[in-house]
Amino acid sequence: MRLIIQPDYEHLSLWAAHYVANRINQARPSTSHPFVLGLPTGSSPLGVYRHLVNFYHRGTLSFRHVVTFNMDEYAGIPEDHPQSYHTFMWTNFFHHIDIPPAQVHILNGNAPSLEQECANYENLIRAMGGIDLFLGGIGPDGHIAFNEPGSSLASRTRIKTLTSDTILANSRFFDNDTSKVPTTALTVGVATILDAHEVLILANGLSKARALQQAIEGSISQMWTITALQLHPKGIIVADEEACSDLKVSTYRYFKDIEKVNL
Ligand code: GLP
Repeated sequence: MRLIIQPDYEHLSLWAAHYVANRINQARPSTSHPFVLGLPTGSSPLGVYRHLVNFYHRGTLSFRHVVTFNMDEYAGIPEDHPQSYHTFMWTNFFHHIDIPPAQVHILNGNAPSLEQECANYENLIRAMGGIDLFLGGIGPDGHIAFNEPGSSLASRTRIKTLTSDTILANSRFFDNDTSKVPTTALTVGVATILDAHEVLILANGLSKARALQQAIEGSISQMWTITALQLHPKGIIVADEEACSDLKVSTYRYFKDIEKVNL
């Protein structure tokens, strides 16, 4: 696994945005061979989305031949709810780029059969030839997408009950009222993420320090689902200095040294 350490959130976001843009451009996507991009919500990717929108405006990046699959969506809140992940993605990203709406995929948390919705999502990803690059964040408890502690590392897209920790963390988007936060969500599984050709995870701020320490130095465990990234042949975490606060000095120095050409 690569760990790219950047001084702060701004540098981390720019590094990740360049990485995503380079991958799309290098693939020379077309109608018959689109680039398949997995995407997260949350505060972590906002900087990356801002930069990708800028690249599009500058004419150095197009999403015309990009197909996207979002990681997760709350169950049971309307699609147009201000805090739905549909609203988040269109407001912060899709409305500002040239992606054809039919190429955007976000799980439907109001589908008549949520099980069927999850199964269809897996089939659709497979039919597209898999995900080329999955961009993600991590929760303070080390969850990836909504794969809460205790999620099987072999899990696929399914319905998950959110932990009290996650409900509390996400209540900041729901007037700080935990009773307004949905208690279940649809999420891609850990194995769905590991199937991607490449996985790029963003970790910024002190609140992610413990999760990052587990991800890099911990053993692979269902209690910190991000640790499954250790099994991926092309896993990258890009972190800021604050998120590295719980790493051993030797670990920190090792990754700084080995990645210094990329800083
Ligand atoms: C939610 C999302 C995750 C995201 C996490 C961290 O729980 N389901 O995909 O990584 O929040 O959010 P933030 O980036 O706001 O810290």
